[in-house]
Amino acid sequence: MNLIIVNNYDEISKLSAKTIKDIITRKPNAILGLATGSTPVGTYKKLIEMNKNNEIDFSEIKTVNLDEYAGLNEKDTKSYRYFMNENLFNHINIRKENTFIPNGLAKNIEEEAKNYDRKIDELGGIDIQILGIGDNGHIAFNEPGDVLISGTHLTNLAESTINANSRFFNSIEEVPKTAITMGLGQIMKSKKILLLAHGENKAKAIKEVISGKITSKNPATMLQMHKDVTIIVDRTIGNLIKNN
Ligand code: PGA
Repeated sequence: MNLIIVNNYDEISKLSAKTIKDIITRKPNAILGLATGSTPVGTYKKLIEMNKNNEIDFSEIKTVNLDEYAGLNEKDTKSYRYFMNENLFNHINIRKENTFIPNGLAKNIEEEAKNYDRKIDELGGIDIQILGIGDNGHIAFNEPGDVLISGTHLTNLAESTINANSRFFNSIEEVPKTAITMGLGQIMKSKKILLLAHGENKAKAIKEVISGKITSKNPATMLQMHKDVTIIVDRTIGNLIKNN
């Protein structure tokens, strides 16, 4: 794994956007694996800027997102489809029909999950997957537990995740308790993975990813088995993982 420590969140976003830009320049029809949450928002802002300056063209790009809350429709401002439209897709020259997010309203979730994995495979696999990480080591909604699941699936959110995500809702009761998420096997099939983290509450999880044992108690530790992972963290995490 390649660990890069930069000064702050802005530098994480710049470097991550540049990495994505380089891939698009090499492969104009690349498949981007995208994430929601606070972490990638800065990266998306930079990509929007680059697109406006004609530095990158999204007209042939396809995207697949990691996850979606179960039960929220795409017009719901809390859905991840809405988040992606607002934070990226509405501001770049991508064709919406080339952007894929699991359907949280699917009647048959198992079938939706299978179709989602099939779709990713049909597209030719993910060229670069952007990941944030939960304080508890979750990636996408693969929460710590006794078992990890390979394919896309319906999952229960951990209590700590419900607490963390309640900041986006009016009350904690409103946070969906389940979500449809890409599984770890599908994430691990990505050709390249970029894991972004800032702030001291992510330091413990990141330290385990870099130097801990691979364990389902911290799903992100699985990334140790991937051959092309770059982790970009801020100085706060950099200092904490060196000194502890
Ligand atoms: P965050 O979430 O980017 O909002 O910190 C990351 C995650 O929970 O995966």
